[in-house]
Amino acid sequence: MHLEKNEKKILVVAYSYSGNTHKIAQAISCIAGGDFCDIYPWQPYPMSFPELLEQVRKEIAAKYRPRLLPFPYSPHNYDIVFVGSPNWCGTIAPPLFAWLKGNELSGKDIYPFCSHCGGVPGNMQKDVQSICKKSKVHKCLSVINDGGEEIENIVTQYLSETNILLYGNCCHLK
Ligand SMILES: Cc1cc2nc3c(=O)[nH]c(=O)nc-3n(C[C@H](O)[C@H](O)[C@H](O)COP(=O)(O)O)c2cc1C
Repeated sequence: MHLEKNEKKILVVAYSYSGNTHKIAQAISCIAGGDFCDIYPWQPYPMSFPELLEQVRKEIAAKYRPRLLPFPYSPHNYDIVFVGSPNWCGTIAPPLFAWLKGNELSGKDIYPFCSHCGGVPGNMQKDVQSICKKSKVHKCLSVINDGGEEIENIVTQYLSETNILLYGNCCHLK
């Protein structure tokens, strides 16, 4: 595959509850280049699954946007922003909604990505576009869990399909 240097500045932002979306984000920033940072809700979500599910359902129904811990990068300085979240109940998780709402992303190219378990499907491209009305939101990269050993190939394929020029293919993920 022919890879060229990308002159555009890339930021990778992810919310991950149990680590899968984080691993996808790591692969994207490793292969595409750019800065990467996770987002964290100020109040962590419960550890127990029934409690988590109940809280998430309520937050999604109420369009609740949790308060986040400070984020070190301003998207203002970037041309391309990758935004990732687990699929929670067929949509993106409230912390990513909160980050999208709290940042000015007009005119940016946004590339959503998500981790899911093969359950209720979502439409992350639509969800992100619903908040980022003045951004160009591209097709979502959907990965089952963390993509396992295929993650580099999955991400490389997506980046070439979406015509994001790459810094290089010398990425070795553990
Ligand atoms: C509260 C909750 C709701 C979920 N809803 C869905 C869903 O609707 N569809 C789906 O495919 N997976 C769903 N999942 C599974 C997660 O998307 C999946 O485990 C994902 O890999 C988690 O990513 P993370 O490790 O970055 O948090 C849900 C998980 C949780 C905890």
